[in-house]
Amino acid sequence: MEITSFNKNMLMMMMMMMAIMWNIAKSDLHYVEGSKFRWVAGVNLTQWSLNQQFLVHDWLYFGYDRHTFNVLEVNQTSYEKCIDTGFIKNISTGAGRDVFQLTEAKTYYFLSGGGYCWQGVKVAVGVSDHLPPAPVPAPKESGAFSISSTF
Ligand SMILES: *[C@@H]1O[C@H](CO)[C@@H](O)[C@H](O)[C@H]1NC(C)=O
Ligand SMILES: *[C@@H]1O[C@H](CO)[C@@H](O)[C@H](O)[C@H]1NC(C)=O
Ligand SMILES: *[C@@H]1O[C@H](CO)[C@@H](O)[C@H](O)[C@H]1NC(C)=O
Repeated sequence: MEITSFNKNMLMMMMMMMAIMWNIAKSDLHYVEGSKFRWVAGVNLTQWSLNQQFLVHDWLYFGYDRHTFNVLEVNQTSYEKCIDTGFIKNISTGAGRDVFQLTEAKTYYFLSGGGYCWQGVKVAVGVSDHLPPAPVPAPKESGAFSISSTF
């Protein structure tokens, strides 16, 4: 069967779609500080965070002693000053194993209440947009190609 140019275009389209879907399906889960029980005092989470690449749609996993710590999303000021009131979101579900999806390309800030922020139980996570799937022709002038803007 001959592949007409129409079919070729369709094929290209389908491959593009699959690349996009693959990119979305491929959301990584980042265990905070690399393993399942590291939302704890005395760990430099900044060090860890700076060495990770967080993309939109990725997940964070916070594992900790539920009787001691919790996970609150806060703004930058609260993060810097360890303010645990007036938080943006309470991530804790009570099990000591919480996940959080990074849905925007921005910096997220988390800390633990109960004063543990002062002992380093805090992390800032810089989230980037999805990178385009490998060899995509350079877009004309209009800046970065962003998959998430398609949705
Ligand atoms: C944690 O690591 C970061 C990045 O290397 C560094 O700037 C910061 O001073 C460290 N914090 C502590 C409490 O050691
Ligand atoms: C950050 O949150 C704190 C605590 O709710 C609040 O007092 C402060 O105004 C907020 N800062 C910004 C820049 O939104
Ligand atoms: C956060 O939510 C959990 C589960 O509902 C609750 O047990 C906990 O008290 C809440 N923490 C704060 C600081 O509101």
